[in-house]
Amino acid sequence: MKFELTEKHIDEISADFEAIFIVGENLKHKFIKDADQFDFYNYKGDGVLVLPQNRRIYVGIKALKYDAVRLGAAKIWNALKSYKIKSLKIGAYICGCQKLSFSALVEGFVLGAYEFDKYKSVKNSTTLDEIYFCADEYNERELKFAKIRDGIKEAQILADFTNFAKDCVNEIPEIYTPIKMADDARKLADEIPNLECEIYDENFLREQNMNAFLAVNRSSALPPRLIHLRYKPQQNALKKIALVGKGLTYDSGGLSLKPSDYMLTMKSDKSGAISAMSIIATAAKLNLPFEIHAVLGASENMIGGNSYKPDDVLISRSGVTIEVRNTDAEGRLVLADCLSYAQDLNPDLIIDFATLTGACVVGLGEFTSAIMGNNEDLKREFKELSAPSGELFTILEFNDYLRDLIKSNIADVSNTASSRYGGSITAGLFLDKFIKEDFKDKWLHLDIAGPAYLEKAWGYNQIGATGAAIRAVIYYLKALAKPSCGCDKKGA
Ligand code: BES
Ligand code: ZN
Ligand code: ZN
Repeated sequence: MKFELTEKHIDEISADFEAIFIVGENLKHKFIKDADQFDFYNYKGDGVLVLPQNRRIYVGIKALKYDAVRLGAAKIWNALKSYKIKSLKIGAYICGCQKLSFSALVEGFVLGAYEFDKYKSVKNSTTLDEIYFCADEYNERELKFAKIRDGIKEAQILADFTNFAKDCVNEIPEIYTPIKMADDARKLADEIPNLECEIYDENFLREQNMNAFLAVNRSSALPPRLIHLRYKPQQNALKKIALVGKGLTYDSGGLSLKPSDYMLTMKSDKSGAISAMSIIATAAKLNLPFEIHAVLGASENMIGGNSYKPDDVLISRSGVTIEVRNTDAEGRLVLADCLSYAQDLNPDLIIDFATLTGACVVGLGEFTSAIMGNNEDLKREFKELSAPSGELFTILEFNDYLRDLIKSNIADVSNTASSRYGGSITAGLFLDKFIKEDFKDKWLHLDIAGPAYLEKAWGYNQIGATGAAIRAVIYYLKALAKPSCGCDKKGA
């Protein structure tokens, strides 16, 4: 999809269709050109009205906020995708102190238009490909044209990498193996300046005493990979950040086998690693002022004569011993060793990403991810600064009663809790066991099990992978890089 920003007035642009936003119930705006031709009453709220004879589409959005704009763009796309048109134009829109954000529009169009049709014999044939934004209104208000253009470019990079992540997660487990993930990481490093990649195999894991990670991999016919991507900015880095991702290319549950209904969709158990990989690639492309490391633990969790077992005790990389009580709680084992590895990089901030618990989906629903950690300010800061991304997060609090539930009689910690309640937090508390004292306040755990993979479409997300946490982290990092700029918040 091509986006072009012009300083011309909307009426001077020739395009096959024009899209016009109606914000709230502002039906008097000067851009509304067909007021006499539609029933205002039906139009209230957030509907779409297509007037093919006039070559115009109206879309109602609740407010001029980023996420409403993304949703509006996705609705325009869905309403027009079957029309044989090539181009669309959209004018600037200012309402009080808020303006229509072209970058949110770009995100809405690119994310909303995504389809995974690799395995469909009949592909979609949408012809709409050129979108013109007319910034003449903004020029009158002295908003910088170059800045808007940069925002559009950055939004496109972010949305393209989010769609790349969706492609990876949607890919079938037969093809998307740990080796394929490593190949993709290497390809990104080859393509993006300042991004480097080291791939480690099982021999390295053995040398590093990553026995928890290795135990999960043991029953798989496919070897594991530890993928370490590194991005160093051209300018001085404000912070060193480690992203750690759960990369289970398939989670059958292992010997504690999942029932068939629950096994289905478990190709998505690599979402955390894929999000971490896409975040570092986006940050490198945007040249964000942080040194970033992405540490991805890639393996399958399968079943076989050589499987690790409930009753095993594993000696993890950090030396903390783990009683295995359920082989389906495998993500935390892989992450335990990867988190230990990541702390040796001495980062200022560690964020891990994982489709870690079914309990998180039960508790928070399919729309919301969980934020956990020991630092109240850090959790709050992440939630607030990532909010304009449109991704939803809830903070889940640790407490010592829940901490007691993962005590083991035979080892330092058990990989499952002794109660079936509070499963997301006890999983977070398990990870906390592997965070050293110096890093306790520098760590965030994001459980993305709900929104990472959808069985029903919502918002501008399709069925299947969504690229969960990618936009949230990029918005967060951009806000950290520019702490004095409050303007993003206004549009949120
Ligand atoms: N990958 C799953 C968690 C999951 C479930 C993600 C559903 C997305 C949707 C994880 O490895 C798992 O199986 N966790 C178990 C933990 C339990 C055995 C303590 C779970 O949530 O049931
Ligand atoms: Zn599992
Ligand atoms: Zn899993």
